[in-house]
Amino acid sequence: MANQHETRMAGQLKEAMETMEFSKDQVEFIQTTLQFRQMMLVYQCAIKEVRTKLEILNDELTILHGKNTIESISSRVKTPLSIFNKLKRKGVELSLDAIEQTLQDVAGIRVICSFIDDIYAVADMLARQDDITILNRKDYIKNPKPNGYRSLHLILTVPVFFSNEKKQVKVEVQIRTIAMDFWASLEHQLKYKKNIPNVEEISHQLLVCSEVIAKTDEHMQHIREMIDAGGTVDEDAVG
Ligand code: GTP
Ligand code: MG
Repeated sequence: MANQHETRMAGQLKEAMETMEFSKDQVEFIQTTLQFRQMMLVYQCAIKEVRTKLEILNDELTILHGKNTIESISSRVKTPLSIFNKLKRKGVELSLDAIEQTLQDVAGIRVICSFIDDIYAVADMLARQDDITILNRKDYIKNPKPNGYRSLHLILTVPVFFSNEKKQVKVEVQIRTIAMDFWASLEHQLKYKKNIPNVEEISHQLLVCSEVIAKTDEHMQHIREMIDAGGTVDEDAVG
């Protein structure tokens, strides 16, 4: 929905372009381009909101437990080309409405934790915040994909406040361990490279690695619990 400022800008732009004798198609194209850029800005702002929430949680947990819950956070707004390709793949016409309605991952955040328990803790803490709505939760850790992909996915909405309106914006959050992320990066190369020989053999080896990684993640979790259960904290050793 266009606000007063947008309407005034669009009017001025239209007038400027008419005096420069642009065609109606060109005017519409430029207006759509501007609206598209505004839309991407909204997604970028939603990423900032969720990143800040994650950073605050991590800061608080670091003080409480003396160790990082989140190892790292990365984020991206989907590129125009990738948006275009995905809509095409889904057989949806290209429009701003279609982007908003059809795509869940225009704004994407990836959260990397050391331990499996931390993944669920972070997801639950986000979900409990009263301005966040979880639209969808896919647990590919408890139910890995057949290729071995493991990760916890949330599609959520977060409110973003602008000068005269509030928008609920969709963000995809992927949370996984360092080891799961390592695996996913390598597997991604297989998916997006063409004409790789021995694809079946590589897929099989990736599946084996994924199972080894899952076992190791569980083992590391168990070792941490054993460490946490006994002894006292040596303050000098806390970095
Ligand atoms: P898209 O796959 O994005 O069309 O969405 P979807 O509705 O199928 O959701 P899903 O939760 O399966 O995947 C969302 C995102 O997770 C993907 O865009 C990837 O970034 C990541 N992902 C899902 N499956 C895999 C996988 O098998 N390997 C890797 N490397 N990443 C994956
Ligand atoms: Mg998919």
